Amino acid sequence: MPIYILGIESSCDDTSASVIKDRVMLSNIIANQQVHEEYGGVVPELASRAHQQNIIPVIDKALKVAGIDKKQLNAVAFTLGPGLLGSLLVGTSFAKAFAMGLNIPIIVVNHLQAHVLAHFIESPDKENPPFPFLCLTVSGGHTQIVEVNAYDDMKILGQTIDDAAGEAFDKAAKMMDLPYPGGPIIDKYAKMGNPDAFEFAKPRIDDLNYSFSGLKTSLLYFLRDKLKEDENFIAENVYDICASYQKAIISTLMQKLYLAIEQTGIKHVAIAGGVSANSELRNEINKLQTIMQCKVYIPDFQFTTDNAAMVAIAGHFKYINNDFSDLSVKPYSRNLTM
Ligand code: KG4
Ligand code: ZN
Repeated sequence: MPIYILGIESSCDDTSASVIKDRVMLSNIIANQQVHEEYGGVVPELASRAHQQNIIPVIDKALKVAGIDKKQLNAVAFTLGPGLLGSLLVGTSFAKAFAMGLNIPIIVVNHLQAHVLAHFIESPDKENPPFPFLCLTVSGGHTQIVEVNAYDDMKILGQTIDDAAGEAFDKAAKMMDLPYPGGPIIDKYAKMGNPDAFEFAKPRIDDLNYSFSGLKTSLLYFLRDKLKEDENFIAENVYDICASYQKAIISTLMQKLYLAIEQTGIKHVAIAGGVSANSELRNEINKLQTIMQCKVYIPDFQFTTDNAAMVAIAGHFKYINNDFSDLSVKPYSRNLTM
C-alpha cells in the first residue's frame, strides 16, 4: 500500500502544503507573503495573520493537485519548529485539527532536518546522498554544517553564533534599498559586478562556527563613509558592492566547509536552505569535486527555499519508523541541537 503524507510548513513567511506518495512529490503549493516587502524583513504579527488566511486554500489546492481525497492520507506532518511562534501555531493547530478529524496520526518535523531531507524527494535526474554526508544548511534563519548519519540522526558540527547567511544578504539589501528578500537580487546583481572591487572584514571565529554580524556592520560603515563623499555611491557601484559582499559571505561559508571535510574525512557534501539557491555558492560547491574529490548534492531550486515537500518527506521517514506524536505537542522557536 502506498503511503500518502500531507506536509505543512508555516515556520516563517511561506504557507505551504504538499502531498507525497512514498517518496514521490504529488504537489507542493506555496503561498508567499508579499506583505513583508515594504518592511525589508518579515513582520511576525503580519506573517501569522497571512498564514491564517492562506492555510485552508493552500491545503485544498495541494490535495486537488495531488489528485487525492483527504481520506487517502496516512498522516499529517508539520513543522513544529524552529521558527516564528505565531506562524508555527497556525500550521500546528491546523494539522492537529485536520488529523483529528480524519482520525490519522500527526508527525512533528524539525524545519532544519526537513531542509536536509529534501535531498531524498525522488527525482529522476538526482542521486540521493549516502550516509554519512555533510550538509551546509544556509537559510534566512540558520547557518549550520551538519553531519547527517541517518534520516533521524544529524549532528551539528558548527553554526552561526549571530546572524544567519541569508540574514546577511537580506540586511545588506535593506541598507542599499533593494527589495526583500535580498539574496536573489544580490545574487543577480553580483553577476554584473567585480567581486574584488571592495574588501569587507572577514569574521575570525573558532572551530566550525560562523559569524556574519561583523561583515554586515563592515558593509554598513563602508556605505556610510562612501555616501559622505558621494551621495550616489550606491547607485553607481551597486553591482560591484553586491559582488564583493556576496564573495565575502560565500568564501566564509566555504572556508569552514573545507575544514569540516578535512576534519571528518566525509566526502559527500550537500547544500540546503534558501541560500543554497545562490549561484556563487553552487559554483564553489561544484569545485569541491575537483579540489577535494568530493561528490556534491545540490537541490532543485524548488526545494531550496521553504516548502512543504521537504516537511512531507521528513514525515515519510518518521511514518516508516512509527514515530508519531500526540496532540499535546507545542511549537518551539529555537533549537541548537537536532
Ligand atoms: O530557507 P528559507 O526560505 O527560509 C528560512 O528558513 O529562513 O531561506 C530564505 C533566505 C532569505 O534570507 C533569502 O534572502 C535567501 O534565503 N536566498 C538567497 C537566494 N535565494 C534566497 N540568498 C542568496 N542567494 C540567493 N539566490
Ligand atoms: Zn527554511
